[in-house]
Amino acid sequence: MVFLFLVYVMLMLNAAAAATPKYVFAHYITGNAAHITQDQLESDMKIAKHAFIDGFALNIAQQDQNTDFVLQKAYAAAEKVGDFSLFLSFDYLSGGPWPVDRVVDTINRYKPHPAQFYYNKKPLVSTFEGVGNTNDWTEIRNKTDCFAMPDWTSLGPESFTNVRDKVDGFFSWDAWPFGTENKSTEGDEAWANATGGKPYMMPVSPWFYTNLPQWNKNWLWKGAHLWTQRWEDIYYFQPDLVQIISWNDYGESHYIGPVHEDGIPQGASRYVQDNPHDAWRALLPYFIASYKTANRSRIRVVRDTLVFWYRPNPNDSGSDGGTTGNSPQHGQPAMDPRLLAEDKIYIAVLVKEPSFILAQIGDGPIVSLEAQHSGINSFEVPFDGQLGNTTFAIVRDDKEVAYATGPPITKECVDGTINWNAVVGSS
Ligand SMILES: *[C@@H]1O[C@H](CO)[C@@H](O)[C@H](O)[C@H]1NC(C)=O
Ligand SMILES: *[C@@H]1O[C@H](CO)[C@@H](O)[C@H](O)[C@H]1NC(C)=O
Ligand SMILES: *[C@@H]1O[C@H](CO)[C@@H](O)[C@H](O)[C@H]1NC(C)=O
Ligand SMILES: *[C@@H]1O[C@H](CO)[C@@H](O)[C@H](O)[C@H]1NC(C)=O
Ligand SMILES: *[C@@H]1O[C@H](CO)[C@@H](O)[C@H](O)[C@H]1NC(C)=O
Ligand SMILES: *[C@@H]1O[C@H](CO)[C@@H](O)[C@H](O)[C@H]1NC(C)=O
Repeated sequence: MVFLFLVYVMLMLNAAAAATPKYVFAHYITGNAAHITQDQLESDMKIAKHAFIDGFALNIAQQDQNTDFVLQKAYAAAEKVGDFSLFLSFDYLSGGPWPVDRVVDTINRYKPHPAQFYYNKKPLVSTFEGVGNTNDWTEIRNKTDCFAMPDWTSLGPESFTNVRDKVDGFFSWDAWPFGTENKSTEGDEAWANATGGKPYMMPVSPWFYTNLPQWNKNWLWKGAHLWTQRWEDIYYFQPDLVQIISWNDYGESHYIGPVHEDGIPQGASRYVQDNPHDAWRALLPYFIASYKTANRSRIRVVRDTLVFWYRPNPNDSGSDGGTTGNSPQHGQPAMDPRLLAEDKIYIAVLVKEPSFILAQIGDGPIVSLEAQHSGINSFEVPFDGQLGNTTFAIVRDDKEVAYATGPPITKECVDGTINWNAVVGSS
């Protein structure tokens, strides 16, 4: 394990510890990259690597004419960047199931590439769903010798046990909470149990809001605590691999990569364009180093960092756009989205020592919070009807050690519709 980019955290590596390597990938929608250049791909990959991400899981849909074009550029870019790996994730819902021969051809075409990710000496391959095609994998594995870790989440853990001998591991897509609940690791435990000792890839996602009428999608799930809480869970749960959902799925608002405007799906610009999420990556070196060392005492925080996120529009500032809390399409009861996406600022700080955290909305009163221990501390500050730009500081020994400002909380909604996506910023 070589961590060259010790900007935010420093690892004190113990030479004696040589456990099974763990990996963190980010889900990359090639369908949103039809116009991307190899330079842009290299830039995105360097940024991901800088955040300690090991590579991308490349989501590919069988009807997408651009797939090979994007894959060729991606594999070439990853090779050039170096020490950054890729694997294929066959999407069985977008455009329908993949025919077996095309899956076999695509795996075999890319597996000799230097940037292909190998796990247990085999090229790792994953999916998005595909529960009607579980029988295909006997032939696919025979003809490619791949390491198959499908996401067949809609099967449920119990039914998965009936087909697990057809694959080599499992990836769960169950990354968001139901209703007002906080996400627990119960689902991860059930899936990890159901693999019968085969590797488990655990999902982590910072948010979920989609409003794409052309695909009949318009719902949100509670996301407020996910980014800090799920990484905490990952630290204790210690899955074999982790996949971040996502790098560039703009339409579902869970991207942590840079926004490339020509990759935004039709209709999503309204809620994506002014909503950068880059700052969510600022905490990743710490989160990933925590997961990989399984021992935070070995990590030294070398820079105080503050990250904040919030929705830009209060809940009474416009139409809710018909967005439901929960997904009725998936059989969940519809709820008022305001109950799941609350009018609050969420703050996570990574501090070297106990510190005070200051937060202010517009010209309102300054709220003082206490980060009681070194490492990660999380806070919530209700809007309380205040509007305006936001400012934040970390203060220690009467000195300001970090400072950040955020875009305004405003009742002026784009198109009169509340933006349920987050804006994210950092010091
Ligand atoms: C594929 O099946 C054939 C016939 O059973 C067998 O000889 C071969 O070893 C298998 N290949 C792999 C990679 O499993
Ligand atoms: C969810 O987690 C947050 C942060 O840990 C906590 O403040 C809140 O009370 C929890 N909510 C529920 C319903 O357990
Ligand atoms: C997973 O298996 C362990 C050990 O058998 C058991 O204690 C636990 O209840 C299981 N968890 C779930 C969610 O099935
Ligand atoms: C964690 O790391 C610290 C510092 O290197 C070490 O003293 C401690 O024994 C480690 N704890 C475990 C459980 O390995
Ligand atoms: C909308 O926000 C206000 C102010 O924060 C809050 O009092 C109210 O409960 C919220 N509405 C819902 C439905 O949660
Ligand atoms: C909010 O910040 C923007 C950008 O820095 C600035 O142009 C604007 O004047 C600020 N608004 C207020 C009310 O301070």
